[in-house]
Amino acid sequence: MADLLSKDVRQSRLWNRLLERATPTGWILPKGTPQRMVAELAADSALKDRLIPPVLSPSDLLPASILQELREYARSARSSAYEALGHQVSDGAEAIPCIDKSGILQWCRENAPVEFSESIKMCFIYYREGQLCRLHFDDDEAWEFNFLLCLERKRPENGKATSTYFFEGNEKLRSYDLSPGQAVWFHSRCTPHGRTPLGQGEEVVLASLGMRSV
Ligand SMILES: [Fe+2]
Repeated sequence: MADLLSKDVRQSRLWNRLLERATPTGWILPKGTPQRMVAELAADSALKDRLIPPVLSPSDLLPASILQELREYARSARSSAYEALGHQVSDGAEAIPCIDKSGILQWCRENAPVEFSESIKMCFIYYREGQLCRLHFDDDEAWEFNFLLCLERKRPENGKATSTYFFEGNEKLRSYDLSPGQAVWFHSRCTPHGRTPLGQGEEVVLASLGMRSV
């Protein structure tokens, strides 16, 4: 089946096999280690195709009523969540009409130099203590750009809160600890990203909207 996939997706999947081995615990290894070099090389390899760096959405983009509606969708979908990349994921298709009326898609379209397909793909992501997201490129054909929106956030009882991190290439590493209502918009097919393991009592619920260019 692999020959039916685009060249970009095939390359992402090859890199992902290496990236998974480079960050098995979710922690980013120090500069100079072979694992860190793999992560940096992956980011550099995609830099020529990356159309936008990770960017935060405006704080007033999402109305409070939409945030509350999305939280309720995420709570009801949690019972059908499955394990992926070190955390739990559930399908979010039912919540897409809620996104359609939010203004999010218009903002995304205005903030990327590409025309997007009408269809979007949505899921909810759940993290609790000890869970993580291993470093990866998004390698789904329908998932080229990602609007990653925080719905719920409980910070750890002790120690530093975790964050989503992005390898941007040229040894640049960016991380965001999103609060509810905040989102990061990024070219997820071309930006290795992950999350460090959550500490004691820490919890995160995100909505992830995948989009692709036409
Ligand atoms: Fe991802």
